[in-house]
Amino acid sequence: MVAQWWRNAVIYQIYPRSFADGNGDGVGDLAGVRSRLPYLRDLGVDAVWLTPWYASPQADGGYDVADYRAIDPAFGTLAEAEALIGEAAALGIRTIVDVVPNHVSDEHPWFRAALAAGPGAPERARFWFRDGSPAGEPPTGWTSAFSGGTWTRVEDGQWYLHLFDTRQPDLNWNHPDVRREHEEVLRFWFDRGVAGIRIDSATMPVKDPAFPEVGESADHPFLDRDELHDIYRGWRAVADSYADGRVLVGEIWLDDPHRFARYLRSDELHSAFNFDFMMRPWEAKQLREAIQSTLDSHAPVGAPPTWVLSNHDVTRPATRYGRVDSSFGFNAKRFDTPTDLARGERRARAAALLTAALPGTLYVYQGDELGLPEVEDLPLDALRDPMHFRSGGVDPGRDGCRVPVPWTRDGVSYGFGDGAPWLPQPTRWGSLSVAAQDADPASMLTLYRSALAMRRSLLRGEEFAWLASAEDVIAFARGDVLCVVNFGAEPVPLPGHREVLLTSAGLDGDRLPTDVAAWLRV
Ligand code: NOJ
Repeated sequence: MVAQWWRNAVIYQIYPRSFADGNGDGVGDLAGVRSRLPYLRDLGVDAVWLTPWYASPQADGGYDVADYRAIDPAFGTLAEAEALIGEAAALGIRTIVDVVPNHVSDEHPWFRAALAAGPGAPERARFWFRDGSPAGEPPTGWTSAFSGGTWTRVEDGQWYLHLFDTRQPDLNWNHPDVRREHEEVLRFWFDRGVAGIRIDSATMPVKDPAFPEVGESADHPFLDRDELHDIYRGWRAVADSYADGRVLVGEIWLDDPHRFARYLRSDELHSAFNFDFMMRPWEAKQLREAIQSTLDSHAPVGAPPTWVLSNHDVTRPATRYGRVDSSFGFNAKRFDTPTDLARGERRARAAALLTAALPGTLYVYQGDELGLPEVEDLPLDALRDPMHFRSGGVDPGRDGCRVPVPWTRDGVSYGFGDGAPWLPQPTRWGSLSVAAQDADPASMLTLYRSALAMRRSLLRGEEFAWLASAEDVIAFARGDVLCVVNFGAEPVPLPGHREVLLTSAGLDGDRLPTDVAAWLRV
């Protein structure tokens, strides 16, 4: 059904800066994306989600938006964005764009006007400007998501709030302009044919205007505040005013699955990323628990579960699953963490089949279909991520999962473009390129293509049932297709079946080896 297309869609995440460079300046762009749309059609995706493509000083990879109605000149023009949306649609691919309600760039005209206008001026009321203590302390001692404090002092002595980088001032969602502007931005992009909006930092935009310290009052002063739901009801009304299934996808990091599901009520967001599943280690018990709790929390609100292995913020699965601690945590990221890459790749292949078999929406981050590892030895002077710099250099940051995609075996940037890429690529990139994997039946790319094609033809419904299995095995049925994954140290017998449809690595006779997934038909 067209209106519910997202319920079992495969959504491919494009980080435009690193996907494909059409003009040879070393930075990915819309011309590059347009030239690779046939690749995405052949991969078998239903939609693309592009991280912010708007005009931006790129202090946080575009999550610092200076103008929502303009494309960053490094990426192209509005006309090219419109062409991209149309060309993708012609290939059966919908387009989802990113909107960042929590903050804007310090170069956004509103923030410039606020700075120029001075303390007490109405222009400052769209942000959170406050006086500090007489002793020169900021208004609160909150910690930024990028480490350090959340307030920066301006020349006239006032402080402004930023939950992320200094260059990302937080908006005041009690201000009517802020609400109106965002609803207009949604319409602006829906009118240009986008099928959905990914909502950045969706639990953070509303603040307690009394500015208590964290823990001082019953509610958190800036996370998951109740007032958010009314804002998203307004957004849902905008989305629903278009007849053909426009969707809202929330970036919601919350530990409590029931608080999470509140955002997915039928008059709020359609869907949200499943970070609980993404952060779990490669252990059957942990992942089984995450799958069950996901199904349990989504069913009452009728929202489709989503399955996410990575994105532009987190360690690539091929690396993460090769570590002793294979869970993901922002605070745990360190340089020089020992990694068994062969094991990581084997598990990432199995994880691809596990997630592709689950009911709901599947997200694939660019390059995961090639099994790209995290690049952990980037020269320090190449790093760009404020998360790295604000941690005092302790956190390696997120550049390692943003290294430009390799398309060809060799060439100046392995086919990414004609110029030196904005982040250097490892020499291994050629052997991981699309060209190297394209015709190789054993490649990760071939595995993804096969899995997505089979998913499309065989796993259409939402039915799901656990199968009895050993503790170290995850096994479930989707109608007459079974998915079995062995996390244990020893091979296990396969359950009865008529046909082996797909496996992530070779079988051991009729036994499933360690870290291998199989799809079977009964
Ligand atoms: C979440 C985005 O995914 C991340 O890349 C960004 O840095 C923060 N939100 C702030 O916008």
